[in-house]
Order: sequence, then structure tokens, then C-alpha cells
Amino acid sequence: MSERHSVFEADGMSTTTEISFFRSGLYAWASSNPRPMPWKGEKDPYKIWLSEIILQQTRVEQGLPYYEKFVQRYPTVQQLAEAPEDEVFKLWEGLGYYTRARNLHAAARYIAGELHGKFPSTYAAIRDLKGVGDYTAAAIASFGFNLPHAVLDGNVYRILARYFGIETPTDLPAAKKEFSKLAQELLDETNPAQFNQAMMDFGAMCCTPAKPGCLTCPMKKNCRAFQQNRVDELPVRIKKAARKQRYFLYAVVRQGQHTFIRKRSDQDIWKGLYEFPCLEFDDRKAFEAADLRAYFPAGAQVSKKSETYRQILTHREVLANFQEIHLPPEISAAEMAPGLWVNCSPTLLNELEKKFAFPGIITGFLKKII
Ligand code: ADE
Repeated sequence: MSERHSVFEADGMSTTTEISFFRSGLYAWASSNPRPMPWKGEKDPYKIWLSEIILQQTRVEQGLPYYEKFVQRYPTVQQLAEAPEDEVFKLWEGLGYYTRARNLHAAARYIAGELHGKFPSTYAAIRDLKGVGDYTAAAIASFGFNLPHAVLDGNVYRILARYFGIETPTDLPAAKKEFSKLAQELLDETNPAQFNQAMMDFGAMCCTPAKPGCLTCPMKKNCRAFQQNRVDELPVRIKKAARKQRYFLYAVVRQGQHTFIRKRSDQDIWKGLYEFPCLEFDDRKAFEAADLRAYFPAGAQVSKKSETYRQILTHREVLANFQEIHLPPEISAAEMAPGLWVNCSPTLLNELEKKFAFPGIITGFLKKII
């Protein structure tokens, strides 16, 4: 530690002393607050990678059963690489952010093929995998290979902003440099895995966004936010942009025993998942007024619109209505292509959900119409 960072100056402590105080406080907290998780202590980098991809944008409790399912179904990267994409999507269903599943599968194929099944073992090579960003690369490098890379995510920003009283808005691009330098200085290079895991757990359980456990926190003596009664004010964020809304009207087209679905393939949300044919509206009024009757021949029987379903995504909120359309046999269904006519009896529409991966908004509808 040659360079002095301006934030290290509590009570005239030297930088080195303050760093040791932080680490020992963090470790003391971690040892009295164990948080058992199946990937903790795991040494197989494939399983560590799997857990870290699942835990991107997902809470531990929600991700846990998916981790168990994936490890059981695909115990090795080779087995994941050999799986059909639809099967991987089906297993991922319900977790959201499906780009993760597509990247996971593509990266497994790359490791099994180009790297002959050997998981990359340097930070740069891990970071090169599809779907792996700086945070995930640091997590895998430290947990799998004990390499000295500090993780930096919302939890770490919060811990550091509070402890050091940093007011730089964490959603400014400049913040990343400042906070990652600091995280890297604090990292215990003799045990990066232990340090990173303790930071993750401390951020998730003690230094939480709301109602943090300051009173039992061993670092409070030096925590600038706690000492200055500013815990609720830090970290600072620039105001978040409002979520834009998207409006989808789904046509649940049926003919005899068959229902029509198609796979989403555009560069858009839910790529790779199945859906019913969909009309998208830019405008809420047009969406509310729309009726699929206008789009189908007179002989088609079109039901009333369903209630409105909603799904919140990171930057979007999707609102969807569904209408069922029964095509009599004399109407040609050929022009519905490209897509798939699935044999499923009219009373068992919800069975579709067992075989195909749909976005949550569609499974919500299918589960309700039994
Ligand atoms: N979030 C991302 N990775 C994690 C891990 N290894 N433990 C707990 N939370 C996490």
C-alpha cells in the first residue's frame, strides 16, 4: 500500500491501520453471521460460474432452486454444451433476463469446443466469456482460482459510500473508477475469495439499503455515515429514469386441437422464448381500444379481451391483453407461418406451459385460464 487514498483518514489512523480495521471488522461480522449457500466453498469453476450467472439480477433465495436444477441436470460444462437450447430455456423459465441463459449456453459450447472443456483460469479469459462482466469475472476469478480481483456491485458501492462517506453518485460513469480502486485497495489479497464473499454477504444482510443493522455492525466506529448520522443519505444516486411502458396484444389462435405459437427471434426482450402472435402498440389509448376482430376474417370467433397482465423488467413495464381466436376449418391457417401449430386440446391450453418456455406475462395468463 504505497499510495495514500484521501478517504483513509479516520481518527488520524494510517491507511494500513484503517484497511486492517475494515477487514477484521468485516471478517468478525462474517464469522458471526454464517450464510450457508450450496456454492460456498465450491472449487469447480464451472459450478461457480453457473451460480454467478444465476445470481446476476436475482436474489439468492430465488436463484437457489435454479442452481440445484442446473447442477443436477448438467453436472459438467460438456453436458450443458450438449443440451438443446430450448431445454436450457425451459429450465431457466421464471428467472427472467433470458439473455443470461442464451449466453450461458453459448459460453458452455465455446468452453467445451474451443477450450476442450477446460474452464479459463485467468481474469482476462474469464471476462471474455459471453455474459461475464467485470463483477462476475472478479467473483469467478476469486472463488475459483483465488485471484486478487475485488467485486464491485450495488452492495459494494453502498458499503464503501457509507463507510468512507463518499458522495460521488454511484450511477455516474466516473464512480466506477473511484469505487473499484478503493475496493481493490481494501481487498485481502491473501484470501480474495473470503473477502469478496464476506462483502457480498455483509451488503446483503447488514449494510442493506433500508433498515441496515448498524447497531450490531463491528465497523460502525469508523463508518463515516453512521458517525455523521447519514446512513439514509448514502450512497447518492442521480434520479432514475422512469420505466417506459410497452403494450402487447396477444392473439391466442386456435384451430381444432391446435394452437399457434412462435419463437421470438428479434433483437428484443425475451429472444428465444415462445409467444403467441403479438401486436405491439406505441400508445396506451390505441392498445386499450384495439380489438383483434378487425384483423381476422369474418368466420373467426374472437373472444373478449382478457384482463390486463403486467410484467416489470429493468427498463420497461409490459402490459398485455390476450384474445382467443377460433379459426373454423375452412379458413386456411397456412399464412400464420413462421411458427408452430401445437397439438393441445382446447381445454388444456395451459399444458403448453409444460413444454415451452414463455415470458412470465404469458405463463401468468396460461395459469389463469384453466
Ligand atoms: N451474489 C452474487 N454472487 C454471490 C455469492 N457468491 N454469494 C452471495 N450473493 C451473491
